[in-house]
Order: sequence, then C-alpha cells, then structure tokens
Amino acid sequence: MRVVEEMIAALFLLCSSATSSTVFELSLDSSHWRFANRNTSVFGTGRVPGGVFADLRSNGVLNEDPLRRYNDVAYRWVSEDDWIYSATFKGEGAGPVHK
Ligand SMILES: *[C@@H]1O[C@H](CO)[C@@H](O)[C@H](O)[C@H]1NC(C)=O
Repeated sequence: MRVVEEMIAALFLLCSSATSSTVFELSLDSSHWRFANRNTSVFGTGRVPGGVFADLRSNGVLNEDPLRRYNDVAYRWVSEDDWIYSATFKGEGAGPVHK
C-alpha cells in the first residue's frame, strides 16, 4: 500500500504543478489499475483504493481468506514483497503545456 500512496502523491504533485491557470481533477478511483510484484512473477488487475490482499484474492492468486486460521503465516510472502500499481490516464482537455 505504501507504493500506491507514493504514486498517488507523485501524481498529485505532477497534476498540481502543471499550470497554475489550468485546473483539472483526475479521479484515481477505477478498476483499470494493474499490479505486479517486484519481479513481475505475480500480477493482475487491481482496484484503487484497495489492497493487495483483496486484489490477489479477486485474481485467484490467494484462494482463502488471509485472516482465516493460519493464512496470515501462509500468505506472509505477500507482505515481504514489493507491489507496484500502475494505470494509464487520459487527460481531458488541456494536456501538458509546452512553451
Ligand atoms: C520472484 O519473486 C518471488 C518472491 O520474492 C520468488 O519466490 C520467485 O522465485 C521469483 N521468481 C523469479 C523468476 O525470479
């Protein structure tokens, strides 16, 4: 989740520094996100806002509830890896300003 928060923060900075006269709002809520672990051996479609455990469940990687019995131990590899979320956005109206 830390990675997602950093991406959102970076995107916000990118958007807010575009131009002072052009203000546009870009919703990051969508199901068009993709995610993968560090070496991309595990990947799928994700939801933002959301969590990697829920996304791994909906993509069929984790078959059981992570909170059930000893699954917290069995699924520890999830929290020990890095997860990268990415999405492509289409700007509406004005794009980046080049002068
Ligand atoms: C990818 O990373 C996972 C988790 O660290 C590891 O178990 C797996 O062996 C790696 N696969 C490759 C192909 O490097």
